[in-house]
Amino acid sequence: MKTNKINLKNTSLENVELLVLGVFDDKKLSIAQKKTDSIVGHIISNLLEKNEFKAKRNTSHLLYSNALEVQRILVIGLGKRKGFSLHNLREAMGIVAKKADALKIKNVTAEIVGKPAIRKPIESVLENMAIGFSLGGYKFLDYKTGENNDDLKINLEILVEGHIYVAQKRALEKGISVADSVRLSRDLANHPGNVATPTYLAKTAREIGKLGGMNVTVIDKKDFKKMGLGAIAGVAQGSDETAKMIIMEYKTEKKTAKTLGLVGKGLTFDSGGISLKPGAKMDQMKFDMCGSATVLGIMNAVAHLNPEVNVIAVIGAAENMPSGKAYKPGDILKAYNGKTIEVLNTDAEGRIVLADALSYITKNFHLDALVDFATLTGAVISCLGHEAAAVMGTESSFVKRLLKSGENSGDRLWELPLWDDFCEDTKSKIADVKNIGSRGAGTIMGGAFLKEFVESDVPWAHIDIAGVAWDSKEKPHIPKGPSGFGVRLILDLIDNF
Ligand code: BES
Ligand code: ZN
Ligand code: ZN
Repeated sequence: MKTNKINLKNTSLENVELLVLGVFDDKKLSIAQKKTDSIVGHIISNLLEKNEFKAKRNTSHLLYSNALEVQRILVIGLGKRKGFSLHNLREAMGIVAKKADALKIKNVTAEIVGKPAIRKPIESVLENMAIGFSLGGYKFLDYKTGENNDDLKINLEILVEGHIYVAQKRALEKGISVADSVRLSRDLANHPGNVATPTYLAKTAREIGKLGGMNVTVIDKKDFKKMGLGAIAGVAQGSDETAKMIIMEYKTEKKTAKTLGLVGKGLTFDSGGISLKPGAKMDQMKFDMCGSATVLGIMNAVAHLNPEVNVIAVIGAAENMPSGKAYKPGDILKAYNGKTIEVLNTDAEGRIVLADALSYITKNFHLDALVDFATLTGAVISCLGHEAAAVMGTESSFVKRLLKSGENSGDRLWELPLWDDFCEDTKSKIADVKNIGSRGAGTIMGGAFLKEFVESDVPWAHIDIAGVAWDSKEKPHIPKGPSGFGVRLILDLIDNF
């Protein structure tokens, strides 16, 4: 993986290629910034006196200095001092990484951007600087012949006044691990369907498992039916690609630790099956494994950070293809919990795969909470666009906790109601449930269907990430493409579990 090197430094300025300073729109310089300003011949205060640079949020201005100590200064606009948040900080650092990349600069030195305004411990400021920098500079060049991923590495040195504490170094390392895990999730989603197959996801899970001392079990397509996994078996039967159910178990040494369950939709390509999707933009459906990419990203972070929470993950990985062997509208499948599913549309395949994954995890493990991630419905894009994922669940206090983690991490969630009226609409005339509803509310109907397969009274939440998993608009810390949504959300949940 392309890890950025990020270090802390407390020596004076020397040989700096690019120095990063953050300025609020009141344009007041800190004591350290004033000192730097006099070293570089007052070019910073000169810039701020002019009205051209207003120091608005997510803007920047590059200055060239004649001083021996510093070659260039990147002044980052931070906008209003009041309310400046860790999210704003991550965005600012994302801009720094992009600018450094555009200038082909390999070594960046930054002050602690926006520090006086953030009412958070220095450790979380450092952690979030590392996250923003590492995520903003993300690129995926694996399939560009002649371009080298190693060229993307940019070193960042963060200037700290006085003694550097171990806790500060640890916070930085945590930030790097978290960002690397989000990057892993983005990489998985960027790989095309002919590379990131269910087998590839299983291999990735095994690698992560090895790193974190986890137990990893992979159930193969050929064993699905005899194990009672008739739902994923039905979806997978049209494809020549071997489907897999992947189970990862992380156990902490802490005896009293709680257990979190995670489930991910891993459709490595969703053609719609016999209910075939239209040809235009069908290529985008390689992204239908983003739920599993989120779960693998989280497990990668867990492997590095060793939290005092047990984490069990189950990924349903398959391809949804039309063929002479494919499942058909009207077919009836039997899920792991024994419930029968009438397939009315083979394109609503994610919920069928998750039916087995959810009943498998809840029947085989004692969980204190359970979250599933899935690019489940196009309807969620009509509902929330690309700004927030939809969340729905069985216990309001747990959903509230997730909403809070959404605010903390910037992976924003919005709750939809799972009222009984919706749940009634999942009943089939001929089987126990049908895989599409008949009264609109597409995203909620996805959740209502899944609820039928949660086989214990564990607080469960379903997160539909179809709108947020892939961005067509560039954001400061999220380039166009897969976002890695959900990794930092759950790491915040784990921190507060
Ligand atoms: N993977 C899709 C969801 C999707 C569709 C995400 C479009 C992003 C853009 C899912 O498997 C699907 O096709 N869902 C159907 C459900 C419908 C048939 C009830 C959908 O949303 O159209
Ligand atoms: Zn589909
Ligand atoms: Zn799908």
